Amino acid sequence: MGAEQQVRAGFVELYGAEPEGVWAAPGRVNLIGEHTDYNDGFVMPFALPHTATAAVSRRTDGRLRLHSADVEDGVAELRLDDLAPESDRAWTAYPAGVVWALREAGHPVTGADIHLTSTVPSGAGLSSSAALEVVVALALGDLFELGLQRWQLARLCQRAENVYVGAPTGIMDQTASACCEAGHALFLDTRDLSQKQIPFDLAAEGMRLLVVDTQVKHAHSDGEYGKRRAGCEKGAALLGVDALRDIPYADLDAALERLGDEEEVRRLVRHVVTEDQRVERVVSLLKSGETRAIGPVLVEGHASLRDDFRISCPELDLVVDTALAGGALGARMTGGGFGGSAIVLTEAADVDTITKAVEEAFAAAGFTAPRVFEAVPSAGARRLG
Ligand code: GLA
Repeated sequence: MGAEQQVRAGFVELYGAEPEGVWAAPGRVNLIGEHTDYNDGFVMPFALPHTATAAVSRRTDGRLRLHSADVEDGVAELRLDDLAPESDRAWTAYPAGVVWALREAGHPVTGADIHLTSTVPSGAGLSSSAALEVVVALALGDLFELGLQRWQLARLCQRAENVYVGAPTGIMDQTASACCEAGHALFLDTRDLSQKQIPFDLAAEGMRLLVVDTQVKHAHSDGEYGKRRAGCEKGAALLGVDALRDIPYADLDAALERLGDEEEVRRLVRHVVTEDQRVERVVSLLKSGETRAIGPVLVEGHASLRDDFRISCPELDLVVDTALAGGALGARMTGGGFGGSAIVLTEAADVDTITKAVEEAFAAAGFTAPRVFEAVPSAGARRLG
């Protein structure tokens, strides 16, 4: 049975009727542009083939019923009028938060029955929560005919995550899930959400991109992500700009000098300003067909996240070091950090050697075995049936 039929059958079993429709929204990896999105900067994610899938029907009685095939929890039944920020610590906060955000923005959502399942690994830095949010937002947007554009769905999902769930994340993950296209990476300006789809077909050029899930679970609602964000905001305030995106790369040295002995803030500012410039370099290399040359830029990005932003961990560093020693073109951690996944850009011929080397290095270090898979740029959120 395909994913659509399976989630349909699950819905019928739970709620006793066919769903009005089935939707899917993917997780993502970020090629480059990390911790730039809440600084109004640039990012470049692409969608994974892994998706959250939802079968959904409308209700008119102000009730929301939620079920996940992946959690042994039974059906959660909520009243729309009771939905309140930070009232829920379970997985249901993501879909319920979207319903809350839609209603709070004035959209006439009167209730729903929702059955979900997801193939996006959770806690792996691959945006499993954004996939859940976006699939629910797209489904409800379609069913209640809300006329919302993709970027608007992403904004509402970010609001669900920031306010309802209480995690201070940026806009990258939701926009990636809502807006990516197969065969492309998404060059996104997070200030105005303007976008360019950049062709990214590694297989055609004899390369592959591996995702290595270190199995070290990260969590955004814990303090470290928020501390980095607050440090960046302090940097922008000290430098008299709206966001760190407003410091041009050419002015970086002068900006660092002005920050004087604010060592911590200086490091954060240096990462963000150089990272925005790395995104622009990757875009121009891809546009001019110099795909292999993005490898060293990815490696620079990792060093900056490890040394300046300080959000790597021994497992992520080990993936990067081992992959590079094994001949990879480039490698870096991806996503929020403190665990989760790394990406490795490699010649197709070296995939097996590098995978084996990483697995052996993890075993030798006494780390949990990593999960390695190939990532092909896939489609963004869509209706399946
Ligand atoms: C997480 C957040 C994103 C972004 C990345 C880091 O994935 O959800 O908004 O900040 O971390 O680039």
